[in-house]
Amino acid sequence: MTQSVYRTPKGTHDVLPEDHIFMTYIKKAVRHRARQAGYKRIETPMFENRTIFERGIGEHTDIVEKELFMVSSKHEDEDNGPEFALRPEFTASICRSYIEHGMQQLPQPVELYAIGPCFRHDRPQKGRYRQFNQFDFEIIGLKDPSLDAQLIHVLSKILDDLKILKRLRLQINNIGTPESRKAYLDALKDFFIGKERNLPALDRSRLETNPLRLLDSKEEDTQILLKSAPTLDQFLDDESKQYHETVLEYLGALGIQYEENSSLVRGLDYYTQTVFEYWDETTGAQNAVGGGGRYDRLMELLGGKDTPGIGFACGMERIAWQMAQTGVKPPNKDQVDVFVAQLGPEAKKTCLMLISQLREKGVHTIGALGEASLKSQMRLADKFGARYTLLLGQMEVKEGVIILRDMAAGKQKQIPFKNAIPEVTKLIGERNLDTYTIKDKIGDTVDED
Ligand code: HAM
Repeated sequence: MTQSVYRTPKGTHDVLPEDHIFMTYIKKAVRHRARQAGYKRIETPMFENRTIFERGIGEHTDIVEKELFMVSSKHEDEDNGPEFALRPEFTASICRSYIEHGMQQLPQPVELYAIGPCFRHDRPQKGRYRQFNQFDFEIIGLKDPSLDAQLIHVLSKILDDLKILKRLRLQINNIGTPESRKAYLDALKDFFIGKERNLPALDRSRLETNPLRLLDSKEEDTQILLKSAPTLDQFLDDESKQYHETVLEYLGALGIQYEENSSLVRGLDYYTQTVFEYWDETTGAQNAVGGGGRYDRLMELLGGKDTPGIGFACGMERIAWQMAQTGVKPPNKDQVDVFVAQLGPEAKKTCLMLISQLREKGVHTIGALGEASLKSQMRLADKFGARYTLLLGQMEVKEGVIILRDMAAGKQKQIPFKNAIPEVTKLIGERNLDTYTIKDKIGDTVDED
């Protein structure tokens, strides 16, 4: 490996071709399941007015307090600092978009999905990056326990398509309405009066700013104290209890396995009632593969009408890692079908045309158009993993023939030049040719990236 002075910024990474195969496959599964279930794709800007995140996600969450990447510009307001921040997630932006574009006029619920990079200035570690990719699903404008179950069902289908569902466990909880939660938080604060000194520094400050986060604290001292503290479910309102039971019943009906987890609270403030995460069996809460929940008050926080919503997001790098752990290898469509080798000016010109025509037919073709010897071109063909090589030297041009070599078998034969394309496409097989289908061309359903 060459040592370069320049490297990717801390917490970011290049997605190299061998990793891209995973990313492309994940996107494919996401798009397929989204289309099946009637979700429409949305794209929001990578940066937004920072107050959207501050108000939406919550000022005292880690994501906003510590992890927002501010976008500075020359026109920055001296008093208030940067106007914009890179998106740390999609939900707040999608809700902003719903309000901005009057989507409440559309038939409800509005079901949207997004795929793209998000940014959090977190301390980088395994599975935790400063730029990472999420796919995100949201159902906005209608509330019913069946929607919660259906959303989780779509997620479980995607994870199953990617062959990682078996490694994961669904954790689910209901954190009640903001009102019932307030009564609980008051009780929790009361409980800790006089015990603050026993709390680690971070949790002591959380007690002031975001006491709910104490529940999923990793600190042993906090966990010991919590054993005798009041619990959230004691304060849950009847409606939330009933709602939760119905969601679980529907999940059961859909054959989705889950674990009830009363300490699951999630790190974003906008949640109400249902919250869930998919955890790796071995690493647990750390590096959740995906998570989400209801956010029935978020629209109001962003200046919209009272509108319910539920959604989830998954980290694509973490999913790719899980796939690699299971040994899943997505089909690689980047394989080279044909390598065209040539020698001499006439042959080169003919090969330029031949390469172009093969590509048009859907044959993945590369060609050495340099001046290397035929022997070294053959070595190159081997290194590129080409299945077949077409060889055209000056003699062949004169005689109107070409040499076709099967690389794996190590056999070659001379064929009439005009037969080169039909012969190669036959060998590769009609269904393996990389062409748009007619449906893709006229139906506007071309796969986007
Ligand atoms: P979140 O739990 O903050 O939820 O993130 C969702 C997923 O994104 C995580 O489970 C994880 O896989 C991935 N992720 C988060 N941070 C990082 C990071 N620093 N590096 C790598 N992967 C990461 C949300 O973002 C909510 N917007 C989900 C949602 C949608 N709730 C309702 N609708």
